[in-house]
Amino acid sequence: MSEPRKILVTSALPYANGSIHLGHMLEYIQTDMWVRFQKHRGNQCIYVCADDAHGSAIMLRAEKEGITPEQLIANVQAEHSADFADFLVDFDNFHSTHAEENRELSSQIYLKLRDAGHIATRSITQYFDPEKKMFLADRFIKGTCPKCGTEDQYGDNCEKCGATYAPTDLKDPKSAISGATPVLKDSQHFFFKLPDFQQMLQTWTRSGTLQDAVANKIAEWLDAGLQQWDISRDAPYFGFEIPDEPGKYFYVWLDAPIGYMASFKDLCNRTPELDFDAFWGKDSTAELYHFIGKDIVNFHALFWPAMLEGAGYRKPTGINVHGYLTVNGQKMSKSRGTFIKARTYLDHLSPEYLRYYYASKLGRGVDDLDLNLEDFVQKVNSDLVGKVVNIASRCAGFIHKGNAGVMVDTNAAPELTEAFLAAAPGIADAYEARDFARAMREIMGLADRANAWIADKAPWSLNKQEGKQDEVQAICATGVNLFRQLVIFLKPVLPLLAADAEAFLNVAPLTWNDHATLLANHQLNEFKPLMTRIDPVKVQAMTDASKEDLTASQTDTGEAAPAGNGELAKDPLSPEIEFDTFAAVDLRVALIVKAEHVEGADKLLRLTLDIGDEQRNVFSGIKSAYPDPSKLNGRLTMMIANLKPRKMKFGISEGMVMAAGPGGEEIYLLSPDSGAKPGQRIK
Ligand code: MSP
Ligand code: ZN
Repeated sequence: MSEPRKILVTSALPYANGSIHLGHMLEYIQTDMWVRFQKHRGNQCIYVCADDAHGSAIMLRAEKEGITPEQLIANVQAEHSADFADFLVDFDNFHSTHAEENRELSSQIYLKLRDAGHIATRSITQYFDPEKKMFLADRFIKGTCPKCGTEDQYGDNCEKCGATYAPTDLKDPKSAISGATPVLKDSQHFFFKLPDFQQMLQTWTRSGTLQDAVANKIAEWLDAGLQQWDISRDAPYFGFEIPDEPGKYFYVWLDAPIGYMASFKDLCNRTPELDFDAFWGKDSTAELYHFIGKDIVNFHALFWPAMLEGAGYRKPTGINVHGYLTVNGQKMSKSRGTFIKARTYLDHLSPEYLRYYYASKLGRGVDDLDLNLEDFVQKVNSDLVGKVVNIASRCAGFIHKGNAGVMVDTNAAPELTEAFLAAAPGIADAYEARDFARAMREIMGLADRANAWIADKAPWSLNKQEGKQDEVQAICATGVNLFRQLVIFLKPVLPLLAADAEAFLNVAPLTWNDHATLLANHQLNEFKPLMTRIDPVKVQAMTDASKEDLTASQTDTGEAAPAGNGELAKDPLSPEIEFDTFAAVDLRVALIVKAEHVEGADKLLRLTLDIGDEQRNVFSGIKSAYPDPSKLNGRLTMMIANLKPRKMKFGISEGMVMAAGPGGEEIYLLSPDSGAKPGQRIK
């Protein structure tokens, strides 16, 4: 036997400002299955992760929720940890980038880079929000596209005509945070001199560390020539201050990958037999793999190895890149109910269904993976329930009834057992290569053969005949052994099914090498159904719930909110609230006195509302559903009357009206029963 390998594995650190969804889960499940496979094989494999807790998006979101960033990231970390645990993603450590270990490592790495001459400084000119007193990242600036004149476009590209530009090219720029007109301001920035590492990267990216498609993409960037990388941000910023540079902070992407090290360091601090340097030191013989999505390749395959090299650490053995998740053939969509949060899924379905489905479709490439919900139901039901579990349920009863639950020691299908044994190395190779789809195909091929053999032997008919009991017992014991082998092969994907099967089989936790042995003269435990079929009704309930997730935030116009381009646009969490919090909301019946278009706004209507003792001006993002606003004149609806007035591009919005629905044409304003009067409070 060869020495066990020492392997350290990471998944990308999820941002601490939003919920985990099924797209993220693709990565964590993929990584977890690979890690479990390594452990199953007897290798030392350590899997660390953390929340990515820094950046202005997190700072602003905390501000909006009226809590500190520390509170926000603690809440999110608890939520993320529970989601991962319930999807059976078994981290050895789940830390945070906002942690002392990370501050120390980030400072130390930066200082090593600086002292080796890899840091440059120069002044850059950027838009600054004079009200919020902060520099604005491109996605926090909105204005009119310089190319086609479409209003309300983000600072780096136009959604209408696709033009890309600098924020300074926008006409009539506005801060997406405060609405103020930004001013240009200079500030000193710190840059990592990536071009110093051009040679090293050229070699490293071609040394088997990357999938071909990724290496080719990187080669394009390398050929175009590398640029210095801006690693500093000015206060106010939620992150780590740069050593010796008060008021300057590390850009979130500087300390994020260092968070991999910090999480491992934190684990080492609690685990005396783990040695940090044995995994990260220049001479480390351990393997190091980062699993990531295709959107963050530049950070992991260029900046990160260069930082490690410059600071005297080892570089990754491999960067394993996966594609994006689509649902029913399209980008996940809130209005279609296919933007499914991890928790919404778990409320309706078992985690192992999704783990198996992802495994059955995950190759080693960077192609996108489609979760087709009909195919999902069909595949899981036919493969797991119809093929795998079926073998055990067909055989167990006869062993219990005919032989007191004891498996006899006759192998009734030596050739089949031999075929299972012979398939094992190929299945292991497929797992090792992250070709889970191939591994699942091979395993299901074996399951088909086992089922066909049992069907052919038909123990249920033999059982009715005189003098055939020995044969029945031999067939069923063999069937259970074949089932056990399948479970061993599937264990990295289906750890719960494996645990339940181990209980039924009355065996210690199975490891990979157990596939070469058979149970004989062995007492089984009672057989309980190991997995039930997916009821399509549950899938429908999950997508319905995903549509509802969204409704809560739908009536908020969004037009003045700093959402877009990802980060802040993610779903707000909806924690339970106390009754007092609810009672503090002033809900009223409102009469729409006048509804009208807003010049230059494509989503908003301006509503003049009568709430009994006063009139309110409210902007509402419901134009797509009410193209002729005059139809709303004179009708009653509900409003939140004590919402803090919000300054928007077009004026001040003094409250919010309530509506339901997925969006677009399907937005439905709520109304009270007839008889309600403007100004009446809802209790
Ligand atoms: N915080 C950064 C990563 C820092 S790593 C030092 C980040 N966070 S993220 O929350 O946006 O994404 C986490 C991981 O999930 C990334 O690898 C990303 O590619 C992956 N995915 C996010 N959405 C996804 C899909 N829809 N489909 C597949 N993977 C997706 O990026
Ligand atoms: Zn344009």
